[in-house]
Amino acid sequence: MQINLKIFRYLPHTGNKPYFDKYIMEVDPTERILDVLEQVRADNDPGLAYRRSCAHGVCGSDAMRINGRNMLACKVLVKDLGSTDITVEPLLGLSVLRDLIVDMDPFFEHFRSVQPFFVNDDPLPADGKERLQSPADRERFDDTTKCILCAACTTSCPSFWANGNYVGPAAIVNAHRFIYDTRDTAAAERLEILNDQMGVWRCRTAFNCTEACPRDIQITKAIAEVKQAIQTGKLE
Ligand code: FES
Repeated sequence: MQINLKIFRYLPHTGNKPYFDKYIMEVDPTERILDVLEQVRADNDPGLAYRRSCAHGVCGSDAMRINGRNMLACKVLVKDLGSTDITVEPLLGLSVLRDLIVDMDPFFEHFRSVQPFFVNDDPLPADGKERLQSPADRERFDDTTKCILCAACTTSCPSFWANGNYVGPAAIVNAHRFIYDTRDTAAAERLEILNDQMGVWRCRTAFNCTEACPRDIQITKAIAEVKQAIQTGKLE
């Protein structure tokens, strides 16, 4: 099939404004957008810049805006878009470093701010083995373990676009993963961090994050659970 491809380009070192490169290409409908970008790099412009690594939806590095929606370029097929007009742009809300590459530093600063790591300074059980957890307790936070930190959720959020100091859905998801882990002991600290004007209360329940997540995490639900935990003081 033939597609009309538009790719956002920005080369800050040239001093020029951003622009779009346009290509008319023959592609297989089952090709992924990442394949199409690779083809442009190989055939037309080796200078086209974007992030990618695994190419299989695992590393989260190739999140970008494709026809106005945040997706992983390696997970979406040309035929899935339902259009022969395809526009590829960088994520919104983070500054563009070059072409499709955004500055992820603010995103990871928000991530780090919620203590996204296991905390428990208590001695290990007497037998010296691991801290046990029931299957039901493990299941409680299973959904939020799936995050790959691609930033598709946070950069689809209108509250984050309006104020980049908002911690954002991805950070809340990663806080949720540890808040609801019965082996962890820092839930109260994380809830205090998130009980802030720039924490969970900035969420206006737009659901954009849930729609954007390539791992199908129920992000809005996780945020609602954190809000409830702050209000009730209970982890249910
Ligand atoms: S390249 Fe790793 S998620 Fe797409």
